[in-house]
Amino acid sequence: MRRAQRSRQETLALRRQLIGSSCKLFFSDDPVKIVKAKGQYMYDEKGRQYLDCINNVAHVGHCHPDIVKAAHEQNQLLNTNSRYLHDNVVDYAERLSKTLPEKLCTFYFLNSGSEANDLALRMARQYTKHEDVIVLDHAYHGHLTSLIDISPYKFRNLEGQKEWVHVAPVPDTYRGIYREDHEDSVTAYANEVRNIIDQAHKRGRKIAAFFVESLPSVGGQIIPPAGYFQKVAEHVHKAGGIFIADEIQVGFGRVGKHFWAFQLQGEDFVPDIVTMGKPIGNGHPIACVATTKEIAEAFAATGVEYFNTFGGNPVSCAVGLAVLDVIEKEHLQAHATEVGNFLMNLLNQQKIKHPIIGDVRGTGLFIGVDLIKDQAERTPATAAAEYLITRLKEEYILLSTDGPGRNVLKFKPPMCFSMEDAKFVVDAIDNILTDMEKQCLSQ
Ligand SMILES: Cc1ncc(COP(=O)(O)O)c(C=O)c1O
Repeated sequence: MRRAQRSRQETLALRRQLIGSSCKLFFSDDPVKIVKAKGQYMYDEKGRQYLDCINNVAHVGHCHPDIVKAAHEQNQLLNTNSRYLHDNVVDYAERLSKTLPEKLCTFYFLNSGSEANDLALRMARQYTKHEDVIVLDHAYHGHLTSLIDISPYKFRNLEGQKEWVHVAPVPDTYRGIYREDHEDSVTAYANEVRNIIDQAHKRGRKIAAFFVESLPSVGGQIIPPAGYFQKVAEHVHKAGGIFIADEIQVGFGRVGKHFWAFQLQGEDFVPDIVTMGKPIGNGHPIACVATTKEIAEAFAATGVEYFNTFGGNPVSCAVGLAVLDVIEKEHLQAHATEVGNFLMNLLNQQKIKHPIIGDVRGTGLFIGVDLIKDQAERTPATAAAEYLITRLKEEYILLSTDGPGRNVLKFKPPMCFSMEDAKFVVDAIDNILTDMEKQCLSQ
């Protein structure tokens, strides 16, 4: 039976009454009520269509019929925990292994990105027998207690940094400490990590892991320079630690050229653990940890069973398989390159026209537009960015910001995003920025 539809105002009032106030809404002053979605479009209670430029969870498109069908068919047959033999979990692990370097051949299935990262952290500690973790500044790795501790984006607003956590500068060549004019930013940023390790050792601390998003997204849609991971991994391995690549936002072909974002660093780079979430299930809660035989064996050596009631259940794995099928069948990786390049070109044309656009960076359908107040200091144009996304919402375009200055427009749309969509959103940005410039002049 379908429940009666409440008005937007009624839903909002009930939400304010019943749901914890720390659970924030997009556009909190005037939130959107979405009742259905298809492909790259979302629809509100009045049937108005919004273009979704940010939902990287609905990876192959909202409510993709193949994914809905796979879940429905498996739900009709069986859903249970992973303590019974079932083909879906092994079929899925086998398919995933084909996308990864050979060394990453052991899989654990879970229900959310946070669970995956928490398991990766436990494994790193168990394998290395060390405790400490190095993370990048502004990083976010999940909402569990263990992950808030390694997420500067969160812990800086709480009780602060734990003694076992070390924060390295973001390898951001636009606004970081070593920029595009530095003669060797790769080595310079990697040496920062080496120095952190040296300092930690002086205090008797030992490094378990370098924990990093392959492309820092919350940090501001950053593309680390190629070769940085290799150099960091060298320092971290020398210290007895391991390299964990968080692909929870950026994996599954989003970057176009490669299936995994860490592969942008070069063929010679392989992390010790890869964590996956969000796009993996196109909205269905699945997550995964992929690691090496050695790490898996060290984790098992405690004799403590790893049991996760829902992780790897037949329905989740059927969905995971269907997502991989659609990526392949619809050539979404190549599509991400084609549409991403087109969108980057359009945005770069806007950069010439509008001085507020300081930088356009990205790969595939992972793109950031850094808005600045001035060219010399590159001061984040925070208020202008917020104004722009609010105006875009009025044009039925859903976009948002990232980065510590909340000034980087982030594009992470469903992978079916089209050239027409790209043109539509960039035209809207152009019109709004032109308007803003006129207003400035008239003041
Ligand atoms: C990079 C990264 N890692 C981990 C997580 C946590 O994933 P989840 O919210 O599914 O627990 C997130 C969520 O935003 C994320 O962006």
